[in-house]
Amino acid sequence: MPLEEAQVPVLDRGFILGDGVYEVIPVYSRKPFRLREHLKRLQKSLDSICLINPHSDVQWAGLFAQLVAQNQGEDQYIYLHITRGPAKRDHAFPKQIHPTVFLMSTPLETTPPEILKTGVAAVTAQDNRWLRCDIKATSLLPNVLLRQMAVDCGAVETVLLRDGILTEGAASNIFVVKNGVVLAPPKNHLILPGITYDVVLELAANHSIPCEVRAVSESEVRTAQELWMTSSGKEVLAITTLDNQPVGDGKPGKLFWRMHELYQNYKATAMRRSEAQPIQ
Ligand code: PDD
Repeated sequence: MPLEEAQVPVLDRGFILGDGVYEVIPVYSRKPFRLREHLKRLQKSLDSICLINPHSDVQWAGLFAQLVAQNQGEDQYIYLHITRGPAKRDHAFPKQIHPTVFLMSTPLETTPPEILKTGVAAVTAQDNRWLRCDIKATSLLPNVLLRQMAVDCGAVETVLLRDGILTEGAASNIFVVKNGVVLAPPKNHLILPGITYDVVLELAANHSIPCEVRAVSESEVRTAQELWMTSSGKEVLAITTLDNQPVGDGKPGKLFWRMHELYQNYKATAMRRSEAQPIQ
């Protein structure tokens, strides 16, 4: 139905309590990218909040195909949102659960070449979120405030530090290049296990780009040769100033361009593969 006609009851626990989870799935050439991985992460988020998945993977794939066909654009992104549904307001779960499922697909605008060339500005802040950042929860108020901090400073992202250690961005994962090695914070309860993060690490491993998954200190972030942010919407993007200081020489670095190229090639081959192997 048209987006403006979609409605949710005001007592929906997603509206009242932020009690829900979500996914953002990029669609290239009308095919969802890394579909299995997104559905796996969705299942983990649902398990973490004790909510039964209302659909099988095959059903989800069918719904996405229908949604993408009904929307404009070869490249889109699917937003998928599941809440614990409407119930009398109470923090504890209701006895009868009728989850609310909301899906929409919007044209995907990838980063314009001029921004890719200059990279983007970021600021840092203390990571003041909860200790289950691995759940892709719809209750995003801390992320909202942290990303707004970047926008208020004329920047694109806020790089988060917890006890002197890099966690992630307000809406992205962060990679650091130091002495020619790509450093990535480990996947744990302090960061969202990004789908793009996995693609970047796989590409680095498959193309002999030195990589280390380990805790990254604030001083390593501040003296990085390169900083990258990754997300389904932004793909891989170079951060070229941090707190108004240039990162490295203030331009997207050599390894960034290598990863950008690998990522674009990977996207093209992944689309061809997904034609051959639909979810069944
Ligand atoms: N956000 N970390 C956080 C806190 C995020 O919100 C996101 C993505 C990521 C990157 O995950 P992925 O590579 O799977 O997109 C990491 C999405 C795009 C959003 O909330 O709109």
